[in-house]
Amino acid sequence: MGTATAGLTTTKAPFIEEAKANGELYIRQPYELYSEENQEAWRRLYDRILPRWRKYANHKFLEGIDKLALDPHNIPRLEDINRFLKPLSGFCAKAVSGYVPAYVFFDCLRQRAFPTTITIRDVSKLDYLPEPDIFHDVAGHVPMHTDRVFADVLVRFGEVARLAAQMACEIKNEEERIRRLESIIKAMARFFWFTIEFGLMRDNGDLKVYGSGLLSSYGEVAHCIESPEVQRFPFQLEWVVNQYFEIHHYQPLLFIVDSFDHLFSRVDELEHWIKEGRLNHVSPGEPNVNEQDLKSFLSAGLSN
Ligand SMILES: [Fe+2]
Repeated sequence: MGTATAGLTTTKAPFIEEAKANGELYIRQPYELYSEENQEAWRRLYDRILPRWRKYANHKFLEGIDKLALDPHNIPRLEDINRFLKPLSGFCAKAVSGYVPAYVFFDCLRQRAFPTTITIRDVSKLDYLPEPDIFHDVAGHVPMHTDRVFADVLVRFGEVARLAAQMACEIKNEEERIRRLESIIKAMARFFWFTIEFGLMRDNGDLKVYGSGLLSSYGEVAHCIESPEVQRFPFQLEWVVNQYFEIHHYQPLLFIVDSFDHLFSRVDELEHWIKEGRLNHVSPGEPNVNEQDLKSFLSAGLSN
């Protein structure tokens, strides 16, 4: 089977396998490789979720969709998206072949680039997908990046990661350096998860969704607002950084921010806590910090 017929389906795309085998993280979006099934998956995902976005998404997201001129009928070309996006917040979507180690990811954000998956889920399995795809990344994340304050939150995350890497390399004892870094990366990943991926916010008196994991899930975008099974609490940093999470089911616990300015101020607080050593011993458990994540922080810190 040639690459032209195999399409760009999640976990089944020869183009991606080849890029990974060559160690290429940043890639082009080979638009000609999308199959008719791939385009169909986009159409169906977009079509069925649109009414739910109108009902549950925060207004900045809805404005973002319009500003980006997202096409309901065709998988977006990143270059088209970026033409609209860049003048608004300086951000761009940057195609990647797969997993981006934690520091590299945060550092991209610092430089206003969002690592973006270009594959799309199988048309026969629209609902559940453990890995990100272009629907999650472009329809779930990128519309939020049209908002300046939200975009600045992502940049602040990158700056916090940089500080964490620099602080880690000042620790002489290697064992302690790694242990502390692992704790801080875990705290940052939890913060990111409960805000950028699964955050709720107050929006003109209503409770709305801004987290991209929620915005790209047809089922959960309604469940997170409507279901009595979900616990929703005001955002508390001391709780969030110590709260483990699991990725394979709907989230039972979510946190609410008042605004994106509020969220920005919480990232400032996160940075202060790192400086004060308050994230050196967060509670264990998910998410797992893998070897690649640790190495990415260590090598960044040491080369500065
Ligand atoms: Fe995401």
